[in-house]
Amino acid sequence: MLSFVLVPLLVLLPVFAKPFARDLQVHESRANAPSGYAYTSPASPDALLSLRLALVQSDPAGLVDALYDVSTPENANYGNHLSKEEVEAFVAPTAESVTAVKTWLNDNDISSNVISPAGDWLSIQVPVSKANDLLGAQYSVFTHAGTQKQTIRTLSYSIPTDLLGHLDFVHPTISFPDPNGTPPLVGFPQVPERRSILNDTAGPCANTSGITPACLQSLYSLPTTPATHGSAIAVAGYVGQWPQRADLMTFLEDARPDMSPSTTYNLVTLDGGIDPQNGSAGIEANLDIQYTVGLATDAPVTFISVGGGSDVTDFTDALLDTAIYMIGLEDPPQVMTTSYGIDEYTVSEKLAYNLCNTYAQLGARGVSILFASGDGGVSGGHYPADGCTTFLPTFPSGCPYVTSVGGTVDIPQTAVNFSGGGFSNYWARPSFQSLTVPNYLASYGSEPTDAGLYNASGRGFPDVAAYAVDFAIVVEGAVIPVSGTSCASPTFASVVALVNDALLAAGRPALGWLNPWLYAEGWQGLTDITTGNNFACSNFTTGFETAVGWDPVTGLGTPDYARLLTVLGL
Ligand SMILES: *[C@@H]1O[C@H](CO)[C@@H](O)[C@H](O)[C@H]1NC(C)=O
Ligand SMILES: *[C@@H]1O[C@H](CO)[C@@H](O)[C@H](O)[C@H]1NC(C)=O
Ligand SMILES: *[C@@H]1O[C@H](CO)[C@@H](O)[C@H](O)[C@H]1NC(C)=O
Ligand SMILES: *[C@@H]1O[C@H](CO)[C@@H](O)[C@H](O)[C@H]1NC(C)=O
Ligand SMILES: *[C@@H]1O[C@H](CO)[C@@H](O)[C@H](O)[C@H]1NC(C)=O
Ligand SMILES: *[C@@H]1O[C@H](CO)[C@@H](O)[C@H](O)[C@H]1NC(C)=O
Repeated sequence: MLSFVLVPLLVLLPVFAKPFARDLQVHESRANAPSGYAYTSPASPDALLSLRLALVQSDPAGLVDALYDVSTPENANYGNHLSKEEVEAFVAPTAESVTAVKTWLNDNDISSNVISPAGDWLSIQVPVSKANDLLGAQYSVFTHAGTQKQTIRTLSYSIPTDLLGHLDFVHPTISFPDPNGTPPLVGFPQVPERRSILNDTAGPCANTSGITPACLQSLYSLPTTPATHGSAIAVAGYVGQWPQRADLMTFLEDARPDMSPSTTYNLVTLDGGIDPQNGSAGIEANLDIQYTVGLATDAPVTFISVGGGSDVTDFTDALLDTAIYMIGLEDPPQVMTTSYGIDEYTVSEKLAYNLCNTYAQLGARGVSILFASGDGGVSGGHYPADGCTTFLPTFPSGCPYVTSVGGTVDIPQTAVNFSGGGFSNYWARPSFQSLTVPNYLASYGSEPTDAGLYNASGRGFPDVAAYAVDFAIVVEGAVIPVSGTSCASPTFASVVALVNDALLAAGRPALGWLNPWLYAEGWQGLTDITTGNNFACSNFTTGFETAVGWDPVTGLGTPDYARLLTVLGL
């Protein structure tokens, strides 16, 4: 009897060919969806999810050590940036990790694609039902009250215990998209007045109703001579925005009559990014292109138009794909500027660390990564924030390997109140801030109204600042003023590109990751901004105050090209 029963069971075993159940362990979770989102329903079991799997990298700490080694001015290796292969050796997962993760996927009949040069990212497609089984997850529909936008996420997921140390994390899971669709930080205040301010005959900054390239050249002592030694800039563009070439031409004719009006930019499209040139250009994209092409004279500028292809479920995917594109280049542009960001807490810690590590990879290659710090003061990317019971740092400004750019206004410059700034909850204070940030906190950190509202042990941002109000740009043939730290980041990027060109002309390497140099030496080439503050969450009284030295409103200050060259001995 016994054997009679046993035989069919044995025969039947392959039918149950389920992988033998693996022990699952909760890997990441969040207590609630981000403010503004509410649970709506379980996700349809058949809905197809595009998931990305991050494999544990072989030596991320080694990468960071190498990054500091080549980016800290007093080191013998300063400026000896790593090759693509050298960086990939730190980032590639071990063969054991690849085998462990692939075996798990094979056991579940899931095929995967490698989506990063070092093989540390895989993508898979699975229906919700399978993802829920595989990850012990509950993928659900969440609706954002303000916008009625829906997204499929889970508040918790698990991975098999035998994949710990091999599978770093899975995305999208607990990171939520920006409910507002990650609009550009530009546009505060949105005043679509049309005026003609580009040819200001009374002096470059005489017309206080509009900031122009001539004004910035005068304010920051920028050269008008062409950069001709191979210094290049990448401008990352999101949310379907693209710049209009005809507007750039009009802008150059009016604002840079000394340049060829046909000076243009290279275009790269990722994830179905578009470039229709049909008269619906994005304001942010036009701003970013006009104030890089129009300031970093003749430096090649590449606009990366990143779309929202089927594998792109939110802004972080788009950021990752942009960084992966840059990492895949043998000679990436030495500066990348991005005028978009999101609130740090909406991104899972593991995803945030991974993206930050991707910027470390680019830094090690000699690329300066600049991000606008945000337009919400201490209330995150935008004002007012959806909910702001404590100060909200922005991402990726809290990542130590990016240089975060805040904003100023008026001449002489003062902090502009929307300038994003504060302290990260994910990254502790980095060594390059070990003197400046405690100095600031000792004087200004104990304002009674701010007590307990921010994380004083975190990485402080922004690092630097630039003018951020009423930039004159051309959109559909007309001049309009735009404001935001979106103005500041391309401006600072252009300054770095011009400095890089002077370095390259002298046979020296580009600046690469800026922060250790900025805090040790570069600050002497910046103008410290010591007046103004940034605004608070809706009903708090104030955000942070500026101060002598670094502050979480304007960082170390605004650039002065001539003084930066002096600091560099050029
Ligand atoms: C400054 O801008 C205003 C408003 O657009 C314009 O009317 C005026 O002519 C400009 N001033 C100068 C000196 O160009
Ligand atoms: C600026 O000056 C140029 C050259 O003088 C002229 O062609 C152009 O029309 C002017 N633009 C504006 C907006 O006044
Ligand atoms: C331009 O093309 C984009 C993308 O195809 C489209 O969304 C937009 O409506 C077009 N605008 C005009 C004015 O045709
Ligand atoms: C920010 O500054 C502007 C210009 O001074 C002012 O009109 C505005 O009320 C300020 N906003 C906040 C929230 O303090
Ligand atoms: C504050 O920052 C530290 C260091 O980055 C971090 O470990 C801690 O979790 C943060 N605290 C909160 C409440 O987020
Ligand atoms: C500030 O506003 C929020 C949201 O409206 C509210 O929950 C909170 O109690 C208010 N705080 C103070 C100090 O008034």
